Amino acid sequence: MFLLTSLLTIVLGLTSVSSKPTRNCRCTSGSACWPSDSEFQTLASKVSQPLIHPVPPATPCYDSAAGNCTDVRAGWYNGVWRSDHPGAAEHTNWETYTFPNGTIQGCYLNTSLGVPCQQGSVPVIGVDSRTPDDIQEAIKFAEKHNLRFVIKNTGHDYLGRSSAEGSFLIWTHHMKNITFHDSFSPTGATDAIKYDNVFTFGAGVQWFEAYEAARQHNRVIVGGISARGSVGAAGGWLAGGGHSAIAPNYGLGVDNVLEITIVTADGQHVIANEYRNKDLFWALRGGGGGTWGVVTSVTYKTHPSTPFSAAFLLVNSTNANSTQNLLGEIIRLTPSLVEQGYGGYGGASTDQIQFFVLSPNVTAEQTQATFLPLFEFAASQPGLSVGNFTIEYPDFWGFYELFSRDGQVGVPSEVSSWLLPKEVVQTGKPRELAGELLKTSGFAYYLVTGGQVSRADPESTGLNPVWRNSLVYTGVGTGWQDGANLTQIEAARHLLIQDMKIIEGIAPDSGAYLNEASRYEFDWKKSFFGTHYDKLRAIKRKYDPTSLFLVYEGVGSDEWDADLVCRV
Ligand SMILES: Cc1cc2nc3c(=O)[nH]c(=O)nc-3n(C[C@H](O)[C@H](O)[C@H](O)COP(=O)(O)OP(=O)(O)OC[C@H]3O[C@@H](n4cnc5c(N)ncnc54)[C@H](O)[C@@H]3O)c2cc1C
Ligand SMILES: *[C@@H]1O[C@H](CO)[C@@H](O)[C@H](O)[C@H]1NC(C)=O
Ligand SMILES: *[C@@H]1O[C@H](CO)[C@@H](O)[C@H](O)[C@H]1NC(C)=O
Ligand SMILES: *[C@@H]1O[C@H](CO)[C@@H](O)[C@H](O)[C@H]1NC(C)=O
Ligand SMILES: *[C@@H]1O[C@H](CO)[C@@H](O)[C@H](O)[C@H]1NC(C)=O
Ligand SMILES: *[C@@H]1O[C@H](CO)[C@@H](O)[C@H](O)[C@H]1NC(C)=O
Ligand SMILES: *[C@@H]1O[C@H](CO)[C@@H](O)[C@H](O)[C@H]1NC(C)=O
Ligand SMILES: *[C@@H]1O[C@H](CO)[C@@H](O)[C@H](O)[C@H]1NC(C)=O
Ligand SMILES: *[C@@H]1O[C@H](CO)[C@@H](O)[C@H](O)[C@H]1NC(C)=O
Ligand SMILES: *[C@@H]1O[C@H](CO)[C@@H](O)[C@H](O)[C@H]1NC(C)=O
Repeated sequence: MFLLTSLLTIVLGLTSVSSKPTRNCRCTSGSACWPSDSEFQTLASKVSQPLIHPVPPATPCYDSAAGNCTDVRAGWYNGVWRSDHPGAAEHTNWETYTFPNGTIQGCYLNTSLGVPCQQGSVPVIGVDSRTPDDIQEAIKFAEKHNLRFVIKNTGHDYLGRSSAEGSFLIWTHHMKNITFHDSFSPTGATDAIKYDNVFTFGAGVQWFEAYEAARQHNRVIVGGISARGSVGAAGGWLAGGGHSAIAPNYGLGVDNVLEITIVTADGQHVIANEYRNKDLFWALRGGGGGTWGVVTSVTYKTHPSTPFSAAFLLVNSTNANSTQNLLGEIIRLTPSLVEQGYGGYGGASTDQIQFFVLSPNVTAEQTQATFLPLFEFAASQPGLSVGNFTIEYPDFWGFYELFSRDGQVGVPSEVSSWLLPKEVVQTGKPRELAGELLKTSGFAYYLVTGGQVSRADPESTGLNPVWRNSLVYTGVGTGWQDGANLTQIEAARHLLIQDMKIIEGIAPDSGAYLNEASRYEFDWKKSFFGTHYDKLRAIKRKYDPTSLFLVYEGVGSDEWDADLVCRV
């Protein structure tokens, strides 16, 4: 990774020689090819809202005319506040831009750093879309002027796919329509094919809104969990797979979608489902966000609401051997827990373990009985301080409310992930696997696969087939202080890459979750898409022959330079 800067310099140096105004390079702001004010005014006259001029969210702390810095400070770590700002990314590193010479441009909340507030990777102008018509106009404009553009929903993307330096923005955040269907028949299906209790969400609906709507109809819907539920229900989450604590019971996001509407590269607004544009529907379920067009709505199945019960195990350790023993015990129990319907989240490092999982339709007593052996095992190990309890919630919302607080966002962050196949989890040597994982500086251990996820046909969606055979999701991450220089950032990144090597080494033929990954994946085509890459690439050629839609480490992006501005 220390080579990265010099490599970028070489790549950009070479392309700038050949990057004359041809269709081989996209146009960015500040270039002569960038549309004139009057051209932007023409666009403005065709869309429902005034054009927006996003700025980094800390701007009011440098320029009081731009807003109220007190409000900025109050909202900074709140995922919903960030998603309401077209110029904010959930992780602040994606608001910055690193020039080939290593200079980092950004706008930091910490004004004492003495760095001027600059635009960084925040798009400079864009459309605040409210309708499919708005999206169609925005795409036509971007295509006509050959613009480097991004689609942004909430800005959660861990690879910064929803921001780009000097870009044009298609913002879907305000497409908040929620429609409940007592009965829904996919377009093109015979009337006999009907699904009851179905939701259609506009592209901008977020999980906190979707969960609230589902609760009002006494239904459960498979969705993401993040502080305050700010991840989008119809954007990148779904396109990448969409994992959930209840996926072992009800499948991944991609297994629960019935129909998607999308504006494709030719400007058409089309329906994709099992009966119309079936290949596109397949690609939209696992082929990644920002690659196929702009999704305008998504229709999901739901499940009957039930009570849930959850088990929590929180451990501090001063004895590394005990940590490994307890983690080994969690690993040993994992296959049976997942089969019984428990899903959820955990994580560990040598000095602590956290594990909390839930299952629908079981009482706290049943969960207590299931987990007692694990709790007793934890209590038996020397050097551990153990907190353990079980709780029953009247419905999914009750569990979900735990996460309605700030956190995770408003700081720089880079992550990666690796799916552990069944054979690797069930080797009969759980303590050894625990030892491998504990070589990282700390890792996530999620039960979001297996069960129903494994029962789906691996070819039924574009999702990397390795998901269907996996039992555990592991993840690693790194971070740094806003304002860190490239040397410091590369040191943090180096630790991430070390940890990535450890988790990938456990099962080299498996894969990563493309939504929770890094810009430094070793072989992203294989780890994100596996055996589906070639078919996805062919579908992209059919629907987007000029690669209008480009995202980092997305299908077809390897044919472009590091900034996705010029073809290589
Ligand atoms: C705090 C946090 C918690 C998370 N929790 C979970 C979780 O529980 N489960 C899980 O699976 N993942 C989770 N993720 C990862 C999440 O799935 C990804 O960050 C995902 O990309 C978010 O999608 P978005 O649309 O909300 O975000 P954005 O950053 O706005 O978009 C992500 C990508 O999708 C594209 N995109 C967005 N909208 C559209 C559209 N309408 N049409 C076409 N392309 C579009 C964008 O161009 C971009 O490439 C979490 C991430 C964070 C930061
Ligand atoms: C900023 O907003 C806060 C409340 O959110 C208010 O108390 C304060 O007066 C505002 N400051 C300015 C300069 O408007
Ligand atoms: C790095 O490049 C940027 C953009 O060209 C320029 O503004 C900046 O001054 C350069 N920094 C150094 C230290 O050369
Ligand atoms: C802000 O930056 C200054 C100067 O680098 C540093 O001393 C201070 O700790 C930072 N404050 C925060 C809250 O990070
Ligand atoms: C929102 O949904 C309603 C039906 O619930 C529909 O009539 C309306 O056209 C939708 N609006 C948009 C912008 O899709
Ligand atoms: C670590 O724990 C295992 C399992 O209880 C035990 O067999 C081993 O002796 C312990 N090792 C040390 C160094 O305590
Ligand atoms: C809940 O469990 C009961 C008894 O095991 C079963 O009859 C019922 O169908 C289950 N409900 C749901 C929604 O799964
Ligand atoms: C924690 O686990 C122990 C078994 O070691 C059990 O006796 C106790 O009831 C558990 N506590 C709670 C609150 O469930
Ligand atoms: C673990 O340590 C943290 C930080 O000191 C503390 O807040 C927490 O209560 C401890 N948990 C247990 C189970 O001991
Ligand atoms: C980066 O910051 C560190 C810590 O402040 C400093 O020691 C180092 O010289 C800086 N490196 C560069 C290239 O500016």
